[in-house]
Amino acid sequence: MAKVTGLDGIVAAETDIGHVDGENGHLIYRGYWAKELAVHYEYEEIAHLLWVGKLPDASEKQQFTARLASSRELPLTVRRLLDNIPREMPIMSVLQTAIALLSGEFSWPPTLEQAISLTAVVPTIIAYSYRSQLGLAPIEPDNQLSHTANYLYMLTGKQPEPAHIKALNAYLILGMEHGMNASTFAARVVLSTQSDMASAVSAAVGAMKGPLHGGAPTEVIAMLDAIGNKEHAEAWIRQALERGDRLMGFGHRIYKTRDPRAEALRHVTEALSSNDPWFDLAIHVEKTAIALLEEYKPGRRLYTNVEFFAASIMRAIALPSELFTPTFTAARVVGWSAHLLEQAQVNRIFRPQSVYTGPMPE
Ligand code: CMC
Repeated sequence: MAKVTGLDGIVAAETDIGHVDGENGHLIYRGYWAKELAVHYEYEEIAHLLWVGKLPDASEKQQFTARLASSRELPLTVRRLLDNIPREMPIMSVLQTAIALLSGEFSWPPTLEQAISLTAVVPTIIAYSYRSQLGLAPIEPDNQLSHTANYLYMLTGKQPEPAHIKALNAYLILGMEHGMNASTFAARVVLSTQSDMASAVSAAVGAMKGPLHGGAPTEVIAMLDAIGNKEHAEAWIRQALERGDRLMGFGHRIYKTRDPRAEALRHVTEALSSNDPWFDLAIHVEKTAIALLEEYKPGRRLYTNVEFFAASIMRAIALPSELFTPTFTAARVVGWSAHLLEQAQVNRIFRPQSVYTGPMPE
C-alpha cells in the first residue's frame, strides 16, 4: 500500500468561505477574486465578507469598523501576562499563550462577537510584545485609525504612510483565507470537540508558526541575505538543491502554477520598491530558482508562493523579520474564525483513522 502521509487530496469539509484552485491559480473569497478585493477594499470590509457572507454597505461598514476598533484594548489578564512573560520569548509563542489565556472567557458555541474581539486584539498583543522586547513603552490603539493603519501605528508610534497602509492592507486581505491549510484545519479540529474559539485559534497559531507554513517569509529574507547579489544566485541555489534543501517561498501543496497571491503581491511591492536593489535581487532569484527547480525536481511544478513576496512587501514597509509570521497571523485570524463559525453550523467531531503498521501480539 502507498505510504499514507499529509492527508494529500483528502476533502475534510465543505465550505462557502474560500476556494483555492491550484491548477488554474485562482483564489476566490465568497464569490469574489481575492486579488481584486485586496486592492479595492479595506481589511474590515473583507472580514465582514468572510464572517457575515456579504460585503458591507456604507452604513454597515461604518458600524462594523467601529465595533472592531472598540475591541482593540488588551484585557487586563492579557496585559498582566505580557508584562510578566520573558522578553526573549518569540512573538508567536507570546501570541499563542495570550490567546490560550483568553479561552477562559470564551465558550462554545463560537459567535461573531468572539471573532471580532479576537481579531481586534491580535495586533495589539503583537505590538505590545514587540515593543516590550525592544524595551519601549506600549502605544495604546488609536480608534480613529483603520485596523491596518492602527497596527502600524501601535508598532512604531508614528502615523503610517498611506502607501504603506495600502500595501499592508493588500497583504492582510490576501493572507486572510486559504481553504483547508494546516492552521485552519487545526482550528476546525479543536473546535469540533465543542471546545471554544480562543482554544481553536491558539492551536492554529501553533500550526502557523512552523517554517513549512507561516514561518517561511523570515526564511526567505535569510535566503536572499545569504545569496547577497545576483552573481551568486545560481551557484547558491544549485548548492542548496544539491544538498536536498527546500527553497523557502517556493512550492505549494495545492498550487501547481504560480500562487495568485504571489502574483498580486509582486505588483503591490513593485509599486513600493522601484529601484530597490533588494527587490531587484528577489526578482532575479525567483527567475533563477524556478528554472533550477525544474531541472532538479522535474515535473513537480514548483513556483513562488505567497511567502516569497510577503517577505518583500514587509521589508518594503520596514517591518522587521520577527514580525513577519505574527503579521500573517493578524491576517489569517479572520479566516480561522470564519471557518470556526462555519464548523459550528455543521459540527461533527473530526475523528480520522490510522493504519496500524506495528507488530501484532504473538
Ligand atoms: N524546494 C525544493 N524542493 C521542493 C520544495 C521547495 N520549496 N517544495 C517541494 N519540493 C520538492 C520535494 O522535495 C519533493 O521532491 P521529491 O518528490 O523529489 O521528494 C516534491 O517537491 C514534492 O514535495 P512535497 O513535500 O510532497 O510537497 P508538499 O505538498 O508536502 O509541501 C510545502 C508543500 C509548501 C510544505 C513545500 O513546497 C515546502 O516545503 N515549501 C517551502 C516552504 C514554504 O515556502 N512554505 C510556505 C507555503 S505557502 C503558505 C502556506 O500556505 O502556508
